Amino acid sequence: MSNAPQVRLGVNVLASGRHDAAWKTLPDATTLSTDIDAFIRIAKIAERGKIDALFLADGPGGLVPEAFHRPWRALDPLALHAALSAVTRHIGLVVTASSLFGHPYTVARQIASLDHISKGRAAWNIITSQVPVALAAYGVEHGFDQQARYQRATEFAEIVVQLWDSLPRRAVVADAARHVYVDKERLRPIGYHGAHFRSAGALSTPATPQGRPVIFQAGQSDDSKAFGARFADALFTGQRNIDKARRFYADVKTLARGYGRNPDHLLVMPGLFPILGSTEEEAKRRKRELDELLDHDFLRGELAHHLALDPSDLPLDDKLPYDKIAQAENRVPVASRWHRQEILNEARANDWTVRETIVSNITGGHRVIVGTPEQVAADILHWVDTRAADGFNLNIDVQTSGLDDVVDHLIPVLQRAGRFRKEYAGTTLRDHLRLPAYVDPREARHALTQGVASHA
Ligand SMILES: Cc1cc2nc3c(=O)[nH]c(=O)nc-3n(C[C@H](O)[C@H](O)[C@H](O)COP(=O)(O)O)c2cc1C
Repeated sequence: MSNAPQVRLGVNVLASGRHDAAWKTLPDATTLSTDIDAFIRIAKIAERGKIDALFLADGPGGLVPEAFHRPWRALDPLALHAALSAVTRHIGLVVTASSLFGHPYTVARQIASLDHISKGRAAWNIITSQVPVALAAYGVEHGFDQQARYQRATEFAEIVVQLWDSLPRRAVVADAARHVYVDKERLRPIGYHGAHFRSAGALSTPATPQGRPVIFQAGQSDDSKAFGARFADALFTGQRNIDKARRFYADVKTLARGYGRNPDHLLVMPGLFPILGSTEEEAKRRKRELDELLDHDFLRGELAHHLALDPSDLPLDDKLPYDKIAQAENRVPVASRWHRQEILNEARANDWTVRETIVSNITGGHRVIVGTPEQVAADILHWVDTRAADGFNLNIDVQTSGLDDVVDHLIPVLQRAGRFRKEYAGTTLRDHLRLPAYVDPREARHALTQGVASHA
């Protein structure tokens, strides 16, 4: 195996695939969002490809407006991953759960339970979004401003990680002679009084096979980067430009160092949307044929929304109206301005029309790359080798043909280069991601005497 860093790869799962028109090419489209057999097929193919993790994104609540136009994430990710854990043996299972809505105790218990059920393969992907349907679903009248959002998220995460340490495995003594099952003296109950959340006592789920489930975090702003650098093991991010990605990578590794962490233990995994073909022309044709099925009016509406314009301001074959866009800037919510700016920078640099902007997946966010497996593998390695990423979360164009292509053609190129595993070496998601096992520092002495290595 090569000494160069191993590439981490997740698969971002939607039963239809990530291309907005994917569902139009598939049979039984009405059941796609809830079809457990479809998700099982995807999980098994990804595991055949020795992929690190299956990533289930999710909204914080409410039926999202996209559902009127394409399959959406209908199943609760925790329930779905609990089912997938029973039909897979190695692959990591990432559950997205909000840090604004609900209570941290619930999330701590759910993710800890999945780590036990899957024997050490669970992760929590922390989101901080507050879309209108979620506010309505949870009966929250006003959203939180940026500062309150991250204050709330910080309290939420602090409670979750403290709870994960609150019932050490060593406390479950099952001592029949003394009639003691859990030894009260060995608990580490928490007492948390925050401005947003309170929690006291111990979690009812013991410390998990990974010591602590893996934490992913998805976000983009400076607040989000600081939050992620403190709590996360891996950052899921939208990066379409390699120079910016390198700056993001350097920034978050520096921030991690500032929190006293080893920067190698904070992974950066941008989304990547490959469209593969055995020749470049075939890959381009695959994308063209899918793009022709798109609902251009709907996507134009999405673009108009990001730019705070009316769809009628965006004729499909005209260039973007930069003057009108500049005038509308103040109408774009602060949290979405980075995305607006990304859209504008890229459209301007490429001199795109509205139609070209739409099919670049810029509103979806993740970078599209169209080419042969060799070209895509070279791109992935270039990003990893120039410290723009530690790996990628792959968005699959159409399930399951796109995932088959990744597993049968792209991954073997990375394997032949010695940059991706041929077999799973360990059993936990931490092993796959090459993150150290977690041991609560207060428990380290006892863990060592029980023969458990501490790399905390
Ligand atoms: C790559 C990426 C993936 C995300 N995934 C989700 C998701 O699955 N569900 C969700 O509700 N929000 C998701 N978000 C939104 C973030 O949680 C956050 O609300 C958003 O980035 C705005 O916050 P920020 O400006 O502080 O980064 C994602 C963001 C990024 C960058």
